[in-house]
Amino acid sequence: MKKIIVAIDGYSSSGKSTMARELAARVGYIYVDSGAMYRAVTLYAMRHGMITPDKTVDTERLVAALPSIHISFAPAGADGVQHTLLNGEDVEREIRDMQVSENVSPVAVIQEVRQRLVALQQEFGEHKGIVMDGRDIGTTVFPNAELKVFVCASPEERARRRLKELSEKGENVTYQEVYDNVVERDRIDTSREVSPLRKAEDAIELDNGTMTRQEQMDWLLRQFEAAIIKS
Ligand code: DC
Repeated sequence: MKKIIVAIDGYSSSGKSTMARELAARVGYIYVDSGAMYRAVTLYAMRHGMITPDKTVDTERLVAALPSIHISFAPAGADGVQHTLLNGEDVEREIRDMQVSENVSPVAVIQEVRQRLVALQQEFGEHKGIVMDGRDIGTTVFPNAELKVFVCASPEERARRRLKELSEKGENVTYQEVYDNVVERDRIDTSREVSPLRKAEDAIELDNGTMTRQEQMDWLLRQFEAAIIKS
């Protein structure tokens, strides 16, 4: 069967990664979480003292270090989750914590970081058969993707989901902290100069605020099948 590219963009904690991962597993496609790549670069910058407590990034040092930052993915293991590797080290857990979430937006605005990660993302999609989620997948990374979905839900709903996720992992954070982080990331993601978060003109919008996981999956599979027929 013909393979296509599926681009799933949307706001932080909109559930797009879960949808993308499940779709990829269902249809036997590669799944790439592009946000994990920005998070891994952020973790590298944090570990090397390139981000101050007020979230100022030493852009010059980080850009100079880019050639020595290698990001890859280990296939899903027993937990069903694909693990992100930073220079070969499994950092999947660490890149999800609040500290990284708080520092990732200022790293993701750096043009050179975006250029490098976008090139890598395009390489992953060279042979199609890929589902990628992020902020600029349908607009910048794969403007010709056969299926583009833009996921949204209210900041309150997204903060509730994220809090649940973090609490399940044992992180001690309050709803307010998570909500503030969601709103702040929305602000930075939509207002940055390079590849701001916006819906591609030909993307199908999905507000999943009141949908169950199963309903979202059924909806996405229908869109996928329609896109395959059209392609
Ligand atoms: O999807 P996420 O919350 O894990 O993404 C982490 C951050 O990375 C998010 O604040 C914005 C940035 N990002 C981006 O700028 N472009 C992408 N394609 C994916 C994520």
